[in-house]
Amino acid sequence: MIARVLLLAAGLISLVSAEWVHYDRPSIYSKSTQYTVKVNGTFANTVNYADYDYVQLSMTEGSNTEFRIATVSGSKITGTPVISPKQLPIDYKVEGNELIFNLKKVHYIILKLNNLKELVLMIDRIEDDAPPSKGTGIMNVLNHGADNTGSAITDGIQKALDAAGKKPGTTVYVPPGLYLVGNLVIPSQTSLYLAGGSVLRMTGKKADYKVLYTKSDLGDGTWWIRTAFDSKDIRIYGRGTIDGNAEAMKKDKLIASMVVPVGTTNFKMDGVLVRDSSFWAVIPTQVTGAKLTNIKILNNINGKQNDGIDVQESTAVKVWRAIAIANDDSFSTKTWLKDVGTTVPFPYDPRPLSDVSFDECLAWTRCYGYKVGQGVYTDQNNVVFKNSVVYYGGVGLGIHHKFGSGTARNISFVNMDLERLAGEPGGTGTWLAVFVQDVKKGVGSIEDVTVENVRARSTGKYHGKLAGYNANSYLDGVVISDVYMLGNKTAAKTLGELDIKWTQFSKNVQIKNSK
Ligand SMILES: *[C@@H]1O[C@H](CO)[C@@H](O)[C@H](O)[C@H]1NC(C)=O
Ligand SMILES: *[C@@H]1O[C@H](CO)[C@@H](O)[C@H](O)[C@H]1NC(C)=O
Ligand SMILES: *[C@@H]1O[C@H](CO)[C@@H](O)[C@H](O)[C@H]1NC(C)=O
Repeated sequence: MIARVLLLAAGLISLVSAEWVHYDRPSIYSKSTQYTVKVNGTFANTVNYADYDYVQLSMTEGSNTEFRIATVSGSKITGTPVISPKQLPIDYKVEGNELIFNLKKVHYIILKLNNLKELVLMIDRIEDDAPPSKGTGIMNVLNHGADNTGSAITDGIQKALDAAGKKPGTTVYVPPGLYLVGNLVIPSQTSLYLAGGSVLRMTGKKADYKVLYTKSDLGDGTWWIRTAFDSKDIRIYGRGTIDGNAEAMKKDKLIASMVVPVGTTNFKMDGVLVRDSSFWAVIPTQVTGAKLTNIKILNNINGKQNDGIDVQESTAVKVWRAIAIANDDSFSTKTWLKDVGTTVPFPYDPRPLSDVSFDECLAWTRCYGYKVGQGVYTDQNNVVFKNSVVYYGGVGLGIHHKFGSGTARNISFVNMDLERLAGEPGGTGTWLAVFVQDVKKGVGSIEDVTVENVRARSTGKYHGKLAGYNANSYLDGVVISDVYMLGNKTAAKTLGELDIKWTQFSKNVQIKNSK
């Protein structure tokens, strides 16, 4: 059941209604022991998690909705609360153990009070495209034998998907409940709808999954939920949760990517919460045309290689409104060699990547917030990261050309806010790392990089890099404009002021501020 909290205000001419919605907390999760969250006076369901707790809800935009975040212990809030993105217009007040603020618009927000863990507040717009649970064009998984109690692995979802594949245009409906599922393949022209309060979970047993590849350092791996090859018009949406059960899976020696749109065209994913991935979580691979919107990826910050969204060898991919919390990179793009390690199951020959955008994203990682690389085996063209924030990272923005001899060309970072940087993933820790590294797997060029309107509130552990590798693999063409370092109100005018020290084999680097 979805809990709806409705407010009706009768106007003279029309009836205006605002509401917010939260979702049943599945039995396997417990509530936060550190925070309570009240929305317009009613408690919202919180979830206790490894490194942070979280709340997921949806609300009508436009009027002020009050949020009260309180410490469960009752201890008074001391010091300045952390509220990220810092650039949001949030006027808060503190009363005793409560942090109080109003929101008119939906946001993904990371909060931290006192010395408690972080609380991730994920607010989406009210769903306006939820399908009915049954009827024409709908296949409800409960009618295909799915077990929604989580007592045993269930094949009812794949059965419903297979049946749907025979009637293109069908939506497979997953109602609230807990489903332990093996590998899922979504057929062409089929939608998978996960209702809020539904959880698809990996079983924790390797034997329940197909091993698709072996990674030299991490061992056997699978793609948990993927699209059929040569498919089109597939959609995964709703406010349900996809849970990778990482610790149990890794203990049984299997890593998994959660959602793999692969060999497909016109793919859409919206609204879903993905958590606890044991490997790169959401990886559009050899896809032509994809929109990933309102995506929430909550991985363990102490995990391993559990990237948020990695776009691989794909074209025309838009990621809009996403939060990715991960030990490894939050958002990245990659191209690879054929049939090596994780690329073994790729359906097509290696392809270039082009026209990929990440817009309005929030990153929290020990590695890179926003990155091109490390694989640049085939070219990567026209990648833009914009209007996005790093709450915490080792590197804020980067192009790390480490594997392959393709060219990374026309890569932009625009309107980016880097809040806090620390640590040194792979020996690099800085706000901007654009460089070519030689690990005897090929080197190549980086061309036409734009860095525009960036706030580096923190510069990271080491100096920045704008560097090629040798006379054949240059970094050629960088335009930097309006970069504000460490709260300075004047944009930096020199590489020195930008804290960039590594500049070997780079040329045509310009700093052009708008004023
Ligand atoms: C919260 O309450 C305020 C004041 O009554 C109202 O204007 C607003 O629409 C409510 N928000 C939601 C999402 O119901
Ligand atoms: C560079 O990429 C942007 C999209 O990020 C695109 O609009 C623009 O046309 C590209 N420029 C060139 C010269 O291809
Ligand atoms: C702020 O930036 C300006 C312009 O780059 C520079 O001259 C100045 O030294 C900076 N101030 C501080 C405190 O770093």
